Amino acid sequence: MTYVSWDDAFDVKENRMNSQHRMLFDYVNEYDAAFQEGADLRKMIGIFDKIISYTAKHFEDEEAYMERIDYPALRSHRHIHKQLVARVLAYQERLASGDTMLLKEVRVFLKNWLTGHIKGVDTQYSEYAAHTRAA
Ligand SMILES: [Fe+2]
Ligand SMILES: [Fe+2]
Repeated sequence: MTYVSWDDAFDVKENRMNSQHRMLFDYVNEYDAAFQEGADLRKMIGIFDKIISYTAKHFEDEEAYMERIDYPALRSHRHIHKQLVARVLAYQERLASGDTMLLKEVRVFLKNWLTGHIKGVDTQYSEYAAHTRAA
């Protein structure tokens, strides 16, 4: 079964952001598949590292997009991104120290973060963009 599936509830009405989000879904599913197969810590860390660097790039692009549309809540959105980055970096550090028990927790964290952030936070800029386009 697919661990995380993209559906219309995640649509932020911006092609580039949508495709980056979809890519993150793919990566989280890749993490899940490797986890289910019992992949070793090195492999898991490799996938997690890929997710972290792609997320950093995505946040950068997304913040630039929000700047372009003059999104009034950019500051708080940027702050949320920063907090998420801090959390994944803490996980990265703990995994690097060999804490394999953490792999399961990271799996759940990735799912909750990805789905919760897009639905709860990212969709807000898309509502704003739709609103200003209509005005
Ligand atoms: Fe975001
Ligand atoms: Fe996003």
